[in-house]
Amino acid sequence: MSKQFAVIGNPIEQSRSPELHHAFAEKTGLDIQYSKRLAPLDGFQNSVESFFREGGMGMNVTVPFKEQAYTQCAVLTERAKIAGAVNTLWMQDGQLHGDNTDGQGLVDAIHALDWSLEQTDLLIIGAGGATRGVIYPLVQAGAKKIVIANRTLARAEQLVADLKVSVTNAELEAIALTDLSGQFDIVINATSASLSGDALILPDSLQFNHAYEMAYGKPSTFLDQAKARHVPTSEGFGMLVGQAIESFSIWNGVKPNLKDFL
Ligand code: ATR
Repeated sequence: MSKQFAVIGNPIEQSRSPELHHAFAEKTGLDIQYSKRLAPLDGFQNSVESFFREGGMGMNVTVPFKEQAYTQCAVLTERAKIAGAVNTLWMQDGQLHGDNTDGQGLVDAIHALDWSLEQTDLLIIGAGGATRGVIYPLVQAGAKKIVIANRTLARAEQLVADLKVSVTNAELEAIALTDLSGQFDIVINATSASLSGDALILPDSLQFNHAYEMAYGKPSTFLDQAKARHVPTSEGFGMLVGQAIESFSIWNGVKPNLKDFL
């Protein structure tokens, strides 16, 4: 019988994880079955338990359960602890293990674009869960300074205060979105502005060499402004594929090449 995997969320219909994982399996010659599981908002724990009781090998977790998954794991990786959220689950020695592959997915996507992270100054716009999940892997990949700009300054300041404890080998700084200025190697839009169709206006005083939008398949005023400045840009499909590849490699011990799926 093929190995069983699933992605759990609510809603779940939109998830592209099954098609991605089946493509990785085909490329690597593995026999897997990857399905979607809709969990009731109050039924996440039951769904996870029954999936693994029935012999499931691994699960991805998506909105709105990533923080709940984090609280339910007996064993967490360092990057999941720092992210405060889990998107990858498996059972080992009878214990639920959790990891967060979103940040490594972003790092791999940036590398696949041939943009360097070594010794870089980065600007991340947004201070929600998406930002929290990527800071540590970006620093591990060589970022030397990360400025977090947010509409609500207090939220960025809280995030920096939380992360400073565990992220010691890079400078972290919080600023208000209205105070954006300076020169950056890469600016990353981790706000949900594009998802909700809101404009995000960048001031002329802000300079950057590359622009990465975490959302994909949506109109993005952020990317429009970057394109008008003729800097290289990318939307977030590479990050989506990258986090899926990282989960696949945790479960199956083989890591497909991201560039084969872009
Ligand atoms: P996620 O888990 O995807 O990060 P989130 O925790 O809801 O989602 O965070 C959304 C982020 O997008 C926040 O940083 C939010 O700014 P606030 O903290 O000020 O709310 C940001 N955001 C959403 N819409 C925005 C907009 N129109 N302009 C600027 N920032 C926006």
